[in-house]
Amino acid sequence: MRIITLAEILSLAEYKIRPVITKLPPSIVTNIYSPARKAFIKLLTREIRSRTYIPPESESRILWGIRFNSGIFNAAGMFKHGEGYYTAASQGAGAYLAGTSTGAYRRGNERKGVIHPFMPYPRSGSASNWMGLPNEGHVSLAKKLSKIEKAEGCPLGVSVSDSPELPEMEAMKELVNGMGFFKSANVDFIELNESCPNIPQDKPKNNIGLDENLLNRLEYIGRNFIKRTGANPPVIVKLSNDTDMQLLPALLDVLTGLGFGGVNFGNTSTEYGNYASNINVDEKRLFDYFTTIFGGGLSGRLLKRRSYELSSFAASYIENHPPLNEFYIIRTGGIESLEDIRQSDEAGIALNQWFTGYFENFAKHGHSLYKHLFSKHN
Ligand SMILES: Cc1cc2nc3c(=O)[nH]c(=O)nc-3n(C[C@H](O)[C@H](O)[C@H](O)COP(=O)(O)O)c2cc1C
Repeated sequence: MRIITLAEILSLAEYKIRPVITKLPPSIVTNIYSPARKAFIKLLTREIRSRTYIPPESESRILWGIRFNSGIFNAAGMFKHGEGYYTAASQGAGAYLAGTSTGAYRRGNERKGVIHPFMPYPRSGSASNWMGLPNEGHVSLAKKLSKIEKAEGCPLGVSVSDSPELPEMEAMKELVNGMGFFKSANVDFIELNESCPNIPQDKPKNNIGLDENLLNRLEYIGRNFIKRTGANPPVIVKLSNDTDMQLLPALLDVLTGLGFGGVNFGNTSTEYGNYASNINVDEKRLFDYFTTIFGGGLSGRLLKRRSYELSSFAASYIENHPPLNEFYIIRTGGIESLEDIRQSDEAGIALNQWFTGYFENFAKHGHSLYKHLFSKHN
């Protein structure tokens, strides 16, 4: 018989008492969940499944010459400090993604006495966060990742971002330097986070509607990292789930032309008006409070349709415009079941990442969440 762990007990208990906690005043709910979420990750990542679960062989895939035991793993931001590789690998994750990391240490956001504000909307399968990319910096994270003994089929990825407060050229140099540290740390793939809604950003547009600063950064990375390293490790770009669909062809042409390895749709949404109606009536006051006081990004089930629309469009565009290099579509947003993964498979989406859905599944199935996910496998 398997022994139930402390993280599993606490997660299940939280799942059961949520309906009561989320009835409290919104400021109290966010005051409870913001620190509790971080404390829970600390606990979770200290636990390792006693028998490593390996998904069925038919779930495995080889992308960029790297074996992934399945097409689902954690989204960026879950293991910000490079913790939890062995937890994820033993659970049966298809890969592991650390970060997001920036050049220098960042404390992250604080307002109204709440550090790294977070609000769950459990009845809606969704959440809000306004973290502001807290992290310890590339050097410290790369050092930790370099010590990981990787398990077969669970490749090691890292999410990176430039430092939003630095002048553009300095920020790009620092970013490419950092990517070099991660290459030396033996990471298998790099995800460039170009979509954090919780840090300062300016968005001048050029005549094809793409953000000019984004294009400059992509070109710089293409020239100074991808070309120099021969796209090893591959670099994928994570964009927002709010990305305008009409920009996709131009964006995909730019990414494939510069030798990027893929694109991820995507990050959290700030289109509150589009999603307010997806929030359960009992959670509307939590949603209104958080989006008014903190703003932040929306995650979870409410993004399911949008992440599918963007990723499936991108997959069919790439199928019809085959690039010279290997280029894959990754889907993030609202993934919570095998049905979601099958929907991605059918659309030609190569990989899926989950964050909000991961914790929902952990509450119900504990460290066996991937085993349970694939138990309906056929
Ligand atoms: C608390 C929290 C922290 C996050 N931190 C990051 C981050 O550091 N980098 C990043 O690219 N995305 C970050 N995200 C976004 C997730 O990676 C993911 O794109 C988003 O939550 C949508 O996926 P989901 O619907 O499965 O939650 C964060 C999300 C949450 C909820």
